Amino acid sequence: MKDKIITLLDNAIDVLDKNQIEQFLEQPPKPELGDYAFPCFRLAKELRKAPQQIAADIKDSIACPDYIEKIEVQGAYINFFTKKDAYAKGVIERSIEDSYGSSDEGNSKTICIDYSSPNVAKNFHVGHLRTTVIGNSLYKIFTKLGYNVERINHLGDWGTQFGKLIVAYKNWGSEEAIKEKGIEELMRIYVLFHEEADKNPELEDEARAWFHKMETGDEEALKIWKWFFDISLEEFKRTYKLMNMEFDHFTGESFYRDMTDDVVSELEDHGLLQDSEGAKIVDLSEYDMAPCLILKNDGSSIYATRDIAAVEYRKKTYNFTKCLYVTGQEQKLHFAQVFKVMELLGNDWAKDSLIHIPYGLVSLGGEKLSTRGGNVIYAEDILKEAISKIKEIINEKNPDLSDEEKEEASRIVGVGAVIFNDLYNQRIKDVSFKWEHITSFEGETGPYVQYTYARCSSILRNVEDFAPSVDIDYNVLTDTASVDLLKEIDKFPSIISEAADRYEPSVVARYAVDLAQAFNRFYTDNRIAVDEKNVRDSRCLVTYITRRILKDSLDLLGIGCVERM
Ligand code: ARG
Repeated sequence: MKDKIITLLDNAIDVLDKNQIEQFLEQPPKPELGDYAFPCFRLAKELRKAPQQIAADIKDSIACPDYIEKIEVQGAYINFFTKKDAYAKGVIERSIEDSYGSSDEGNSKTICIDYSSPNVAKNFHVGHLRTTVIGNSLYKIFTKLGYNVERINHLGDWGTQFGKLIVAYKNWGSEEAIKEKGIEELMRIYVLFHEEADKNPELEDEARAWFHKMETGDEEALKIWKWFFDISLEEFKRTYKLMNMEFDHFTGESFYRDMTDDVVSELEDHGLLQDSEGAKIVDLSEYDMAPCLILKNDGSSIYATRDIAAVEYRKKTYNFTKCLYVTGQEQKLHFAQVFKVMELLGNDWAKDSLIHIPYGLVSLGGEKLSTRGGNVIYAEDILKEAISKIKEIINEKNPDLSDEEKEEASRIVGVGAVIFNDLYNQRIKDVSFKWEHITSFEGETGPYVQYTYARCSSILRNVEDFAPSVDIDYNVLTDTASVDLLKEIDKFPSIISEAADRYEPSVVARYAVDLAQAFNRFYTDNRIAVDEKNVRDSRCLVTYITRRILKDSLDLLGIGCVERM
């Protein structure tokens, strides 16, 4: 149906091609405005007429075909009211395929996504939870659109802090305590270092010396560092496993340590490097930015140096069309500097290909969350707490489930609840964290969407003779609740494109709630398991399609589903 309307418009409009028409065609927010609407604003300039006049002219030139009830002009819009049964047929024929929503738009081009990237010897905190779930969702979204995505974990595993940690370990650490408590103990001795260094500044020199040893390949220094690294990665992987998330590359900052010398010479060759109080910088004042620090006055490389090396490595290795960086907005300047330096090195592609994707904070709003040593909140603990809260609810709601089913459902729903809460609002906004809301089975939550999925499953389990290949009586699907549900189904492909264009998983999360709500209204208004076979089959088929799109939407957010909960 949509395609037919696009063709109708294409025949009537000379100055736009089919793709542009498809892009402009909207689904109006209210039924009074029809099923599809075409805005004429953008034609005004080209055709030198008022958009209202253009809309009227186009309408007059279209002969209303039999699948369309009427065409109306309202303001600058041409509104198409399709015949309801024909509309139902169009939507169902398109959405019945399992691949509905997938496309080959990406044409196997590569997108690198740099996300999660926690810091070795530091806890995986709520901020890292955000980059992890946003990055993972973008990976799913772009994969669905036919891109090849490289998931890169740029671990914070190099830098002067490791010199400090080695000094701390040598002075106040013990192997046993680190083995037993892992990151928690590393954080404890790191804090201790700073307390002691306040009293005894020589410790700072020692730390610098240890980091220098690391940079020059000293065996002992690297052995201790690698040990801290392994311990940390093991803990991080536990959190990833809980969330069922994977990476293609754990290439942290240390991976680029041998490439930073080349970065320095390249910058020198381009005449970009300047001395500044013993340090080396790239002056960016012309672009209203603070200088980009490349080498500290003790000659050691820094975060930005390694990021420049990383861009070059990734371009060479993956030949990406885009490289996305998902971090908190406080790193905005850092990425602006790195991207600018890449441009100044003569890389024309840098301007459009390197993209920083910032996000807001998590505000805990007085919520009591379990903490470990030093009152630090670990993402892992939040996930575990969510799982146990959901377990209680499931125990109450569905005591008949087997222990195994309860276990599985609690994990998937508990973790999903936290992820959904994180992705529901625009990423740049702060996320508020309220247990009561997150784990609720009603409202705009993960459990609500998952519950609706389980409801669809249960409906289909209880009809015996349903198969997706049934003959459909489209007249059954012309009541308001059915049409509203079909409209939501109709939107899925454009939702995915919009989420990709705006790097905004919340578009998918909001859609999942809208779809679930539309289904629940459909279910309230219409009995599904009725005796008339044509009615039952048609409603079951819509349930079947809804169920699959709910699952696919949740999957795009990195959230699983269960059949019973
Ligand atoms: N490790 C950093 C942090 O925790 C994030 C790294 C982001 N990626 C990058 N290429 N700089 O803030």
